[in-house]
Amino acid sequence: MVFVLALCNTGDHLTTLIKVKQQLMATTTTAIPEAFQIKEEIHQKTYLVNGELRKWDGDTSPVISTISSTEEYAPTTLGSVPDMGETEALEALDSALAAYDKGQGLWPTMKVKDRVECMESFVKKMEQKREQVVKLLMWEIGKSKPDSYKEFDRTVEYIYDTIEEYKQLDRNNAKFEKHDGVYAHIRRGPLGVVLCLGPYNYPLNETFALLIPAIIMGNTTIFKPAKHGVLLITPLLEAFQSCFPKGVVNILFGRGRTVAAPIMQTGKVDVLALIGNSKSANALQEQHPKSNRLRLVLGLEAKNPAIVLPDAELDLTINECISGTLSFNGQRCTALKVVYVHDEIKDKFLKNFAEKVDGLKFGNPWDDGVSLTPLPEPDKPAYIQELLDDALAKGAKIINKKGGKHFDNYIWPAVLYPVTKDMRVYQEEQFGPIIPVLSFQDIEEPLDDMAESNYGQQVSLFGKDVYTLSPLIDTLANLVCRVNLNSSCQRGPDVYPFTGRKDSAQSTLSVHDALRSFSIRTFVAFKDNNLNVQTVEQLMEAKVSNFLSTDYIL
Ligand code: G3H
Repeated sequence: MVFVLALCNTGDHLTTLIKVKQQLMATTTTAIPEAFQIKEEIHQKTYLVNGELRKWDGDTSPVISTISSTEEYAPTTLGSVPDMGETEALEALDSALAAYDKGQGLWPTMKVKDRVECMESFVKKMEQKREQVVKLLMWEIGKSKPDSYKEFDRTVEYIYDTIEEYKQLDRNNAKFEKHDGVYAHIRRGPLGVVLCLGPYNYPLNETFALLIPAIIMGNTTIFKPAKHGVLLITPLLEAFQSCFPKGVVNILFGRGRTVAAPIMQTGKVDVLALIGNSKSANALQEQHPKSNRLRLVLGLEAKNPAIVLPDAELDLTINECISGTLSFNGQRCTALKVVYVHDEIKDKFLKNFAEKVDGLKFGNPWDDGVSLTPLPEPDKPAYIQELLDDALAKGAKIINKKGGKHFDNYIWPAVLYPVTKDMRVYQEEQFGPIIPVLSFQDIEEPLDDMAESNYGQQVSLFGKDVYTLSPLIDTLANLVCRVNLNSSCQRGPDVYPFTGRKDSAQSTLSVHDALRSFSIRTFVAFKDNNLNVQTVEQLMEAKVSNFLSTDYIL
């Protein structure tokens, strides 16, 4: 394997790249295990619309992995996917609209019990595709083998938990209330057509965290997989087709701006569900002619800080900051993207943290004990290098020895200190392996920065003294939506609310909250008189309304 060593001349702020070929010691990449070898390319020739796997004869886009299959580095072609356009996008929209049929469709009016059965049969079929999906997760986005299995298993668990939560929601609603002489039977109903767009870093899990609750609540959906992590959806197409009535799930391939924009322009989408960045969310939202009708379920960018207080337990803090900054190479919206360390422990923190970063293992996703893996976006190493060059030019130094070393598809995480607010690495969501560190004297400094920031997802607070922590927790809880005490930031467990302030999110996701985000309260009400009581009693006895029902699903 080839790597490039970046030598940084901080004196004249020039960075010289020298390509050297050598055996990688801590980063040795072993041969590709038989089970994970790409023996056949996958050329996806169908897409799912109106319950049919329609044949695609048009243009296709290659799916290329940045992982090499050969000793001399070369990207690997995995296959191709349809490159669809406006016509197919509008076909998918028509199919979703027909399945919703102004609220009269089979799916939005179906009994909860029947919708649950469809979802159960889907998840059972999905479980059979575990190995195929996991293998593609590794190749397409470079996620390590344990994390790829975790992504699949976590998604399956999320579906089972969603089914249970939906049953509980239904049980809670199986009753009548009476206030001021008016009875009410209150449930949650679907919103209509949902357009779902997921991110490349969790192409299965986060897309399904939107799609599954949207479907189970009775909406009809159009789903376009992310740019990277697209082939891994293809083994699941048949399960979507066979488990849900026609038009409930429509799956398109292509570029967001080509297929999603025309769908939004029709004004017929009721919910935009997107995990990605606020720029795309705003651009799509603006296409909708009546944005007041559009519900937004958005998980967006963040710049979660770690704040390390003088009495922080150093070993634990460093371990949490390592996983917080570098799990999946920092390509997580919840990653720690800026680290504030108190002046008193800055030197010790930087020394130990830098050593730990350099001790991590780089390799292919299936290599044992690997922490750092190839970046799926071919341009990402160059982008990270730009951030690095900018910071070095403005006075930061690379603290760790390996920081900035280039591989063909990777750049070694650089621990940068001292970082200042005029640096791009401070301002931009790096979403990759580079770690800006700032020191502070006064806790107001990181707090002011957070208040000024465009983001407000989470924070990690490291320290022990309860009298220092208490007021900080009270303030931080109002600046972000999750304060992690002596723990890195993360989304899970999925039963907890996942949301953010400012540019970081809109609506809340969790097993419980997502069902609410994709539905609306709607109810039948009647004044307490003989006519109404008799009518409703007859309605209940006849058991012909799926909405008006007090049946319990066990
Ligand atoms: O990309 C953002 C993800 O929601 C992060 O999720 O904390 O489970 O890695 P995670």
